[in-house]
Amino acid sequence: MQQRQCVQPLKILVTAGATREAIDPVRFISNRSTGFLGCAIARLAHARGHQVFLIHGALSCRKPRGVPAIEAPSVLQMREELSRKFSWCDCLLMTAAVSDFSPKTFSRNKIKRRAQKEWTLRLKQNPDILAGLGKRKGKRLLIGFALETDDLKKNALAKLQQKNTDFLVAVQMGHNRSPFGKGRLDVLLIDKEGGIQELGNVSKTILARLLLNEIEEKLCLKYGTEEVYNKI
Ligand code: CTP
Repeated sequence: MQQRQCVQPLKILVTAGATREAIDPVRFISNRSTGFLGCAIARLAHARGHQVFLIHGALSCRKPRGVPAIEAPSVLQMREELSRKFSWCDCLLMTAAVSDFSPKTFSRNKIKRRAQKEWTLRLKQNPDILAGLGKRKGKRLLIGFALETDDLKKNALAKLQQKNTDFLVAVQMGHNRSPFGKGRLDVLLIDKEGGIQELGNVSKTILARLLLNEIEEKLCLKYGTEEVYNKI
């Protein structure tokens, strides 16, 4: 099959996995993200010849071979690594599931159960990394991801605007199908012009392919394209 491909490789930054916010040396707050989608995107972008860099939290999947990566276990470490690498990239795909809250204080010693029948953990809000980067995006393409239980379209549109992203990948959290790991996703792809594509129920590998097609279509105009055969 004949298709078009970028003449020049794009610099693609991908975040993946779950951040972990430490409570004490043995406990943390986190979420169910596996990093599967971010790793699938990084793997495919690398296979298409782009320069890819992965910044990841906790992963329950294999890291893409050949893709340089750095671990950023917590929100603050992820923000730090991203701010270091952001100016390098043409495009950021922020698939990481960033914890919205972290413990107000970190206990250096393991918190003991002792005779406590109840324990109240105080949390503070974490910075919104993507919104921060959205303020200094320049010509970079920013792609945010949102998993919603309710009002998918409304919430996703609001996030696209608040975080100043070019695309928002909105995933519906189903009642009987898990969006975590290898499973398929129900996805809406929203762009900043207000266009909404219903991608339907897609595998993460197919979603990675559709997103990279969109990115190449937008960014390769900058660099030019050439006809190629058998695009992955
Ligand atoms: N995100 C981020 N920093 C945060 C929270 C989220 O950069 N502190 C990014 C995520 O990586 C994702 C996008 O923002 O690409 C949307 O994440 P989501 O958790 O859905 O958004 P929130 O702004 O945290 O909104 P909600 O109240 O629904 O949790």
